[in-house]
Formats: sequence, structure tokens, C-alpha cells
Amino acid sequence: MNYDFDRVVSRRDSDSMKWDTVRSVFGEEDILPMWVADMDFPAAKPITDAITKRAGQQIFGYTLPGESVINAIVDRIQQKYGWKINPQWIVFTPGVMPAVHAAIRAFSHPGDDIIIQGPVYYPFWSAVHDCGCQVANNQLQLIKGHYEIDYNDLKSKFALKDGMSPSASRARMMILCSPHNPTGRVWNREELLRMGEIVIENGALMLSDEIHCELLFKGAKHTPFSSISTEFEQHSMVCMAPSKTFNLAGLNASIIIIPNKELRLRFNAARHGIVTRVNLFGLTAMEAAYRYGDEWLEQLLEYLQGNLDYLTTYFEQKIPKIKVIKPEGTYLIWLDCRNLGLDDAELRSFMRKKARVGLDDGYLFGPAGAGFQRINIACPRSTLAEALERIDNAVNSL
Ligand SMILES: Cc1ncc(COP(=O)(O)O)c(C=O)c1O
Repeated sequence: MNYDFDRVVSRRDSDSMKWDTVRSVFGEEDILPMWVADMDFPAAKPITDAITKRAGQQIFGYTLPGESVINAIVDRIQQKYGWKINPQWIVFTPGVMPAVHAAIRAFSHPGDDIIIQGPVYYPFWSAVHDCGCQVANNQLQLIKGHYEIDYNDLKSKFALKDGMSPSASRARMMILCSPHNPTGRVWNREELLRMGEIVIENGALMLSDEIHCELLFKGAKHTPFSSISTEFEQHSMVCMAPSKTFNLAGLNASIIIIPNKELRLRFNAARHGIVTRVNLFGLTAMEAAYRYGDEWLEQLLEYLQGNLDYLTTYFEQKIPKIKVIKPEGTYLIWLDCRNLGLDDAELRSFMRKKARVGLDDGYLFGPAGAGFQRINIACPRSTLAEALERIDNAVNSL
């Protein structure tokens, strides 16, 4: 069937985190919210049908992931990436961030360094701090409009610092954002290999957050980190979910794949009783998405590519002072606004008060995000066009 992504569906009065908090977050109602990472599109019909059918059963008791949803996950990962996973490696969690928090608690001690790559999804920073650890920021390097990894710096993050005893805390874990939010990088095999070798050489673990792995622009290819080799499998964990790809974030269903049995036991011990089961509608939606969601997804990716092309052309032709960092994946676009000559507080106020768009401020993603803004383009083109027009008018009035 054909899906109409141009159709505007009001999300107001639906307890939407994006649309029903505009006044409380931005201080006034007439702001176009384009920050929270979900989409303004209805989900695929096979998913809504499956949820409706499940609701029809009318009994919503305790539920466990059955063989059918587990097989759907195993099959999808095999088909998409040629990676054969053992069903026992799959641990269900009610979201990726709960899994990240549990993993930090399972595999580090308070005071340890945890490596992340700023500018990066800001809850990574708070997850590390909330668990009593410290961020070791292997900052990505923006080279000619493209974000690159600084491998020498990554190595140095594992080195003992002056005056540290060999038993002192140091980095034992890295959290990779793959594809990367907010820069839109989709790490290639060579990059994953180089990072993984450094992590493994240092006896550390990689936690790879791959929540955006199916949101790819033309020509991009995703490789699950652990799929690189059996050695990588033993030193890493991969988080995946249908939530971003199929717009199901409110259903709180995700998985973490942990091939190493000992690590899995430690993870389960840390999450026990705290990170709970997945909601039954989440399981139903996950299975339907993975088995029958591809027709919708293909059309979605085409639409998002159209939105990206529209936005890129718009900035190039009308607002050349703001540069679009060309993404390979995700629907979150990273805008380099440094040529506007505004400091962070001024840029924040400019977007909200002058342009009346609700974007994510770049500095939230780490120091290298200063002067940037992140815009979510998973909306009907007319909404995107209005946001761009608002920004254009505001820039012209500067
Ligand atoms: C990289 C990344 N990880 C995790 C999440 C949140 O995942 P969840 O809602 O499943 O906790 C997001 C949401 O934007 C994200 O971009």
C-alpha cells in the first residue's frame, strides 16, 4: 500500500512529549517543535493492526517475549546484516537508555572513566554522571564538513594518567553511538574495526547504541559492531530497537544483544528488578514491525531523503550562513550556525524567540556542539518548509 507522509496529523492533546510541552519547554505556544527524536507520521498499518488485534484479546496480564518475536529479531538481523545471532544473546529492555544505564552499572565502578564521542546524544553524558563515573570525551573532529574519529586521542583515553597507580580507575568501557546522533555519521567497517581493536587491546568493553541503524540515507550501509568478528562479539554489546525506525518510542520496547555469557549474567544481575519487562504492546509492535514493516520503511526512507534534499537546497540557496552537516543516517540534522556570530545563549534565544522553532541546542551534546543546532526532519514536508521559512525570516532580520 501507499503511505501518505505529506498528510499532517495533529499530535496535540495526545500527551506528546514534543507537541504538548511546547509552552512549558519554550515558554510560548507558537513555536514549531522539532527537537524530540520521534516522527510526526502514523505507524505502518501492519503494526497498528497487530496492536488492535492484541487489544481485542482484552486480557493484559504479565507477558514474556515468546519464540515468535525472538525469531523475528534473529531473522531480521540475519537478513539485514548477515549476522547470525543466538536467541539466547537477546535481552529485552523497556528502552535503550535503561539498557545503557544498567550496562554502566554492570561493567564499571563509580569513579571510572567511560569513553563517549562528543558531540553526542546528551543522555549519554548524564548516564555516565548518574552512575558516578566520569566522561572521557574522545571528541570527534570536524574535517571539511565531515566528522572523523581521533584514534590517537582514543588510545590516550586508556593510558594511565600521570601519578595514577596501575590499579587506579581508568576507562574500561566505551559507549558508541552508531549511527551517530547528532552528526549523522554511519561508521564504516574500517572505522569500527579500528575503534574495536583499541578497545579490545585495552581489555575494555564496547557498548554500541544502534537505535538509528535502519534510518539510512542513500548509499549508507550499517554494520553492527559485534558482527565484525567472534572476538568483537565477546567484547561488546549492541542495543537495537524498532522505536526510531518505525516510530514506536512510546511503546518502550528494545533489545540489547550480549553474546558473551558472563557479561550477560552480569548485565542481568545489574538490571534485575530495576529495568523491567517490555510492555506487551511493545512486543506485539516489535514483531509486526520486524516482520511486516518494510513496505512502510522503504517509503519512509524515500520521504526522509526528499526532506533532507529539500532542507539542504534551502540552506544552500537561501540561508548559506547556516551549513548543513551532510548526514549518512538518522533523521536528526546537525546545523553549523557558527557563521551567525551568536554565542550559545544568543543562538538559543534567536531560534526560540526570533525564528520560533524549537530545536535542540548544540552545546547540550558536549563542548564541540557550541554554535550548532539539531533539527528533526521526520515530519511532513509542509512542516519542514514552515520551519525553514521561519529560520530564513529570522536570519534576514539579523
Ligand atoms: C542514540 C540514542 N540512543 C537512545 C535513545 C533513546 O532510546 P530509548 O527511548 O529507547 O531509551 C535515543 C533517542 O533519541 C537516541 O538518539
